[in-house]
Amino acid sequence: MLAEALLFAVTRLTSPRSRSAAVRDAIGLRARARRCHVAWAEHQARTRAAIDRAIDGVAVRRTVVVLGSGLLLDVPIDRLSSMFNRVVLVDIVHLPTVRLKVLLRRYPNVTFMTRDISGYDKLAEQSRIKLATGQDDLGVRLDPLGFLRKIDELDLVISANVLSQIAVGAVSRLHSKDGQARIMPDDAVAQLVAGHLDGLAQLPCKTVIVTDVSYIRRRRDGGVIETRDLLHGVTPPIPFDAWDWPVAPFGEESADEERVHHVIAAEDVAVDL
Ligand SMILES: C[S@@+](CC[C@H](N)C(=O)[O-])C[C@H]1O[C@@H](n2cnc3c(N)ncnc32)[C@H](O)[C@@H]1O
Repeated sequence: MLAEALLFAVTRLTSPRSRSAAVRDAIGLRARARRCHVAWAEHQARTRAAIDRAIDGVAVRRTVVVLGSGLLLDVPIDRLSSMFNRVVLVDIVHLPTVRLKVLLRRYPNVTFMTRDISGYDKLAEQSRIKLATGQDDLGVRLDPLGFLRKIDELDLVISANVLSQIAVGAVSRLHSKDGQARIMPDDAVAQLVAGHLDGLAQLPCKTVIVTDVSYIRRRRDGGVIETRDLLHGVTPPIPFDAWDWPVAPFGEESADEERVHHVIAAEDVAVDL
């Protein structure tokens, strides 16, 4: 508890622009990843394998961007650092423990970019303008990954288990006090999910996405308690691999219930027109 409070304080100092909820989530993820490391091992290995496959599919390896780099648990950082000239790790929060790991392992070509890639603030701004002007269509795209166009020599973009978290973050912001739920469109979360996939599809380089798309909560006898679509109705890209990830094995959230997420890996993301 004390260690986590200290980590929270140091992260707030080193990443002052990260929202405190995001810092708390990152610290919670770190603790859960430690508790569930056996149950999560296969998911992490398969995510790394999907990324390895994408690396092998790139002939020229100058700059690679990892979206949702998080704790670098499912990102083959050694291989990325040794095979690309430059590695840019993008996340809403970078814990100091991750920064330290990168420093100690001496990856001179790895840099951090702290950024909210959801597009939530832009959608809120567009919604405000629509309300104020009465215009239904502003004729502008959400473009949450537009910042990638400013990165030189981009050859690979990896979306590393971040898409469902964009949706989770948006839902909790919508329900928060100043979440602007009253001005946001009803399908705000779906628009943000679609915006991420659209953003990947627009990129002129190779892309790979690994994301959980749904979950099921089950009792020990196999009885289903709940299923949920984590992409809020948005069609996921066609996967080349798919697997189940026991995010909360029995005993993690409840003694008699487990929550298992279905994960897909897809390359060269394209969206239906
Ligand atoms: C399940 S974790 C990904 C795990 C990570 N790939 C790893 O190897 O440890 C989801 C990550 O998405 C990040 N994230 C969630 N919402 C985000 C947002 N709106 N913008 C940027 N990153 C976000 C979280 O901070 C977290 O690090």
